[in-house]
Amino acid sequence: MRSANSSSSQEFIFKREHFDQLRKIAKGYAGISVGEEKFQMYYTRLSKRLRSLGMTSFDQYVEMVKHTEAELPHFINAITTNVTAFGREQHHFDFLKDLLKTRKGGSFAIWSAGCSSGEEPYSIVLNLLPICQRQGIKLTILATDLDTDVLNRASRGVYPLDAIKHYDLETKRRFFLKGTGSQNGLCRVKPLLRELITFRQLNLISSWSHPTPFDAIFCRNVMIYFDMDDKKRIIERYANSLVQGGFLFLGHSESLHKVSERFDNVGKTIYAKQQ
Ligand SMILES: C[S@@+](CC[C@H](N)C(=O)[O-])C[C@H]1O[C@@H](n2cnc3c(N)ncnc32)[C@H](O)[C@@H]1O
Repeated sequence: MRSANSSSSQEFIFKREHFDQLRKIAKGYAGISVGEEKFQMYYTRLSKRLRSLGMTSFDQYVEMVKHTEAELPHFINAITTNVTAFGREQHHFDFLKDLLKTRKGGSFAIWSAGCSSGEEPYSIVLNLLPICQRQGIKLTILATDLDTDVLNRASRGVYPLDAIKHYDLETKRRFFLKGTGSQNGLCRVKPLLRELITFRQLNLISSWSHPTPFDAIFCRNVMIYFDMDDKKRIIERYANSLVQGGFLFLGHSESLHKVSERFDNVGKTIYAKQQ
């Protein structure tokens, strides 16, 4: 059990009651369950926020988060975990490539739920667009996240060159522009990639208002932060948002075991909605 953190080496006093109140707000607002091990992470990330607000104590900050609606997005942006990468779990994209090779014409709609800074939806497009163009399939992507900071980065589509180093030269040339001058070491996604994606802010545990159904939903490494009741509710809504036989892709450590019986497991962390 953590006790008050009042070590003289710490800039602010961060007590267990501050942590408990803040993690309760994160759970209520975003469904994010926060374990004991996040105590130090909360302190480090939120201290930055206190500094930028010119505040001197967590007492003040907790009151602000509780009573000032405008602070809530800043608080949430500070405590979300946004780790992501281009080409993460490539086998998911390969699965869809094989599927789309067998189709001709029509459309294919994908939702990247919890898209973070955009690497996931851009990876979807750069993997699937060549096949969709060949097969005459209209590809559309909705990409959503709760965190407005990462969504802004996603929309901008600018990344370090290192982030795409594993792609072959042809893929890099086709989908990215290499930065020069002050943009040296960076790349920007080309408009043809960007134009297929609609970025929107969306809290998965609140109401959804976007059009459905989707042919596939990517919700990878998002629900690990949710408790069982929220997971069940969201997966049920995903099932209702997919076409019959539509696909749900989860993160490498996630599964639908004991969560839902509306899907069949058809590959590594790949689920198909039952007919
Ligand atoms: C670890 S990232 C996963 C990114 C990407 N899907 C991947 O697997 O590479 C988790 C994302 O879920 C988002 N998230 C957390 N709670 C959420 C909620 N209640 N509604 C929507 N997004 C949420 C976070 O902001 C974060 O960007």
